[in-house]
Amino acid sequence: MNNNFSLIFSLFLLLPLVAFCAQKQVYIVYFGEHRGEKALHEIEETHHSYLLSVKETEEDARASLIYSYKHRINGFSAVLTPDEASKLSGNHQTNSPNENLCVWPESRSFSDEGMGPVPKSWKGICQAGDAFNSSHCNKKIIGARYYIKEYEQQYGPLNRTADFLSPRDVAGHGTHTASTVAGRRVPTAARGGYASGVASGGAPMARLAIYKACWVNPPNVSVGNNLCMEADMLAAIDDAIADGVHVLSISIVTSTPTNYTDDGIAIGALHAVKHNIVVVCAAGNSGPTPATLSNPAPWIITVGASSVDRELSSPLLLGNGTKIMGQGITSYKLNKKMYPLVYGGDVVNSNVAQNVSTIGQCLPNTLSPKKVRGKIVLCMRGLGSRVEKGLEVKRAGGVGFILANNKVDGNVIFLDDHLLPQTSVIYDDTLRILRYINSTKSPTATIMPGKTILHKKPAPTMAQFTSQGPNVIDLNILKPDVTAPGVDILAAWSGRSSPTGLPEDHRVIEYHFDSGTSMATPHVAGAAALLRAIHPKWSSAAIRSALITTAETINNMGQPISDINGIPATPFQLGAGHFRPTKAADPGLVYDASYTDYILYLCSAGYKKLNNTIFKCPNPPPSTLDLNYPSFAIPNLNRTVTIKRTVTNVGSKKSIYFFSSRPPVGVSVKANPSILHFSHVNQKKSFTITVSPIHDPAVKKNEYGFGWYTWTDGYYVVRSPMAICLV
Ligand SMILES: *[C@@H]1O[C@H](CO)[C@@H](O)[C@H](O)[C@H]1NC(C)=O
Ligand SMILES: *[C@@H]1O[C@H](CO)[C@@H](O)[C@H](O)[C@H]1NC(C)=O
Ligand SMILES: *[C@@H]1O[C@H](CO)[C@@H](O)[C@H](O)[C@H]1NC(C)=O
Ligand SMILES: *[C@@H]1O[C@H](CO)[C@@H](O)[C@H](O)[C@H]1NC(C)=O
Ligand SMILES: *[C@@H]1O[C@H](CO)[C@@H](O)[C@H](O)[C@H]1NC(C)=O
Ligand SMILES: *[C@@H]1O[C@H](CO)[C@@H](O)[C@H](O)[C@H]1NC(C)=O
Ligand SMILES: *[C@@H]1O[C@H](CO)[C@@H](O)[C@H](O)[C@H]1NC(C)=O
Ligand SMILES: *[C@@H]1O[C@H](CO)[C@@H](O)[C@H](O)[C@H]1NC(C)=O
Ligand SMILES: *[C@@H]1O[C@H](CO)[C@@H](O)[C@H](O)[C@H]1NC(C)=O
Repeated sequence: MNNNFSLIFSLFLLLPLVAFCAQKQVYIVYFGEHRGEKALHEIEETHHSYLLSVKETEEDARASLIYSYKHRINGFSAVLTPDEASKLSGNHQTNSPNENLCVWPESRSFSDEGMGPVPKSWKGICQAGDAFNSSHCNKKIIGARYYIKEYEQQYGPLNRTADFLSPRDVAGHGTHTASTVAGRRVPTAARGGYASGVASGGAPMARLAIYKACWVNPPNVSVGNNLCMEADMLAAIDDAIADGVHVLSISIVTSTPTNYTDDGIAIGALHAVKHNIVVVCAAGNSGPTPATLSNPAPWIITVGASSVDRELSSPLLLGNGTKIMGQGITSYKLNKKMYPLVYGGDVVNSNVAQNVSTIGQCLPNTLSPKKVRGKIVLCMRGLGSRVEKGLEVKRAGGVGFILANNKVDGNVIFLDDHLLPQTSVIYDDTLRILRYINSTKSPTATIMPGKTILHKKPAPTMAQFTSQGPNVIDLNILKPDVTAPGVDILAAWSGRSSPTGLPEDHRVIEYHFDSGTSMATPHVAGAAALLRAIHPKWSSAAIRSALITTAETINNMGQPISDINGIPATPFQLGAGHFRPTKAADPGLVYDASYTDYILYLCSAGYKKLNNTIFKCPNPPPSTLDLNYPSFAIPNLNRTVTIKRTVTNVGSKKSIYFFSSRPPVGVSVKANPSILHFSHVNQKKSFTITVSPIHDPAVKKNEYGFGWYTWTDGYYVVRSPMAICLV
């Protein structure tokens, strides 16, 4: 995914600037949670008085306040110098950006036809702005707000030619993710004839509330194509809690793993979880590099991305009769005849200096129209965006192009909505086509009409880009939690954004394919919304547990879920496995956890400051391994470790569960007791897990091994993954 990362990578870190210039910036001062003891204006006054303690004048203090978080989150954001910020010490500053949804309301995916009245408990609003007024909310989109104060503080007024100063979506990412959570069933959604059928969100009858906190990049920011500021995001989460949402779907990540103190999503999510809101977040798109995972907090559901068993095939027919199974989604088609086929490296302008490291890559203004006109051009991936290579072929008069993987790209294909007939091929096929070009004087080819092929390839298969564990923020918490479809997902799109986002592209589309853990997240959020509806009394931890312990680890071919090269995926890629909403509705047992459990966990993890006012951490605190999580990880096993867990019976009244385990080689995992007898629903039973190294000189050390344990009563199988590194 070297281009078109959409919002998920539009993050940037706003680190405090060098001390000597006393640069002002936005700081978030965080006190924890409101206890409902103060009226709204009193809260603002309290925040104001804090500011007065570091500012010269009343006016200064008022002018510097950006948001006073009044509903649930207690704190404020203000423009301060580093010096002023440190004077407000004992409090805490964070600097990492966030995003929430924004939306294109006219999409058929957001129709409210047949939906009942908006629930009375709903307290949200429909905030008017550019091209958006109260009539754009309906019984489907029941709330919409936007948050831009920190953005404008930092970058000046929004460019309203480039973005809407309102909840309306420009980029498309928000509309895509929102319709994946809860889009209505739309019978004819398709792009260019591919994947036609019914587009539907995970929870089609759920209501949506939109909180737009991400905006078009200001002129001096080029990373990603949108920017989300932390104070804006925190304000969005604070309002969402007060409005009465049940599930938050947040497809944003930090660019590197970030600890909870510096992670606005983690802090906002902790408040949300206290109010029993389920928070579902993306694992990030930084794979396959290990230890890149985002959103690691154990109160969040962290989602990786995998492919579905649908192939959008666009075969390439070579002049010698060989058919290559390329893939593509463009709606442009070639006539059914053979065209001359050339290699991009052979058709450059004679005045362009060839560079061995970019040869054949069809970079802008390198191709010779004389040598390209009327031909199909094979362009290598590498430098430059994928769609721009196609544009270059088009500019030079080519009729079609083959986007060819390099050795490093292997089997990983990204489908883009190219502006001319196109197909993408894996590395092995790149070599076959090049050999064919070499083998004949006048090579020819044609790109055949594409079609959707179902159930033919192994699925799910982990996406190459999905961020991987180990979870470096807490090596004892195994993340991601689950995987969900995140490759070539078709969902609603903004009417203001072309599929490629290029200036040359003026297409307006209703539905669009996109890839990323951003796309996987709303699938799980939709499932969480269904679980919340089926089990209104379950905690957010119970919902996460149900999704984790029922996840699938076997693909449609009966083999372990693998990566794109066929190598079995580990829990650092897929977590417990691919989510299964129907199974999760009836999991048998759940590993529950309360807000207090998370606070205790924070004590153990060394974050006393996140809740320092009331809660006294026990001394010594328990191990973070003892948080009642449905999985575990041990980064340094060299002696016996004992872990505590408690399960709650949500299955049959009377039942007997038996323990079994398949630990990694060199490790023994036992439970005590190893049989659990339940006599009623909601009964809790505790047990300990003893994890010991088996002293065997043949066993590999300093390398993670993976396994699982289960509780089963013969009907339910409650499965927990584990990752253990022997030292
Ligand atoms: C800290 O945690 C305790 C225990 O759950 C809770 O009662 C209290 O409200 C929290 N304090 C703050 C400031 O969030
Ligand atoms: C809202 O905007 C639409 C057009 O987008 C317009 O037709 C309608 O009159 C507006 N409604 C209100 C209440 O301003
Ligand atoms: C962009 O400009 C704004 C306002 O001039 C400044 O605050 C910010 O630091 C700049 N950002 C970058 C990445 O240069
Ligand atoms: C505002 O956005 C428009 C459209 O993207 C662009 O043409 C214009 O240059 C931008 N203006 C500024 C001041 O950046
Ligand atoms: C070749 O291209 C690479 C990648 O853009 C660049 O780093 C390198 O300097 C170029 N070499 C020459 C000789 O131009
Ligand atoms: C094609 O031929 C050229 C020169 O004859 C050679 O360098 C190249 O390796 C060949 N490519 C393939 C894929 O066989
Ligand atoms: C076409 O050419 C390719 C590359 O040389 C070769 O692998 C393939 O077997 C040829 N197909 C036929 C039908 O001869
Ligand atoms: C979190 O990161 C901050 C800054 O990077 C650091 O000061 C703090 O000690 C870290 N907290 C923990 C518990 O690791
Ligand atoms: C086991 O590892 C821990 C953490 O790395 C270390 O502190 C401890 O000394 C080791 N114990 C033994 C018996 O080697």
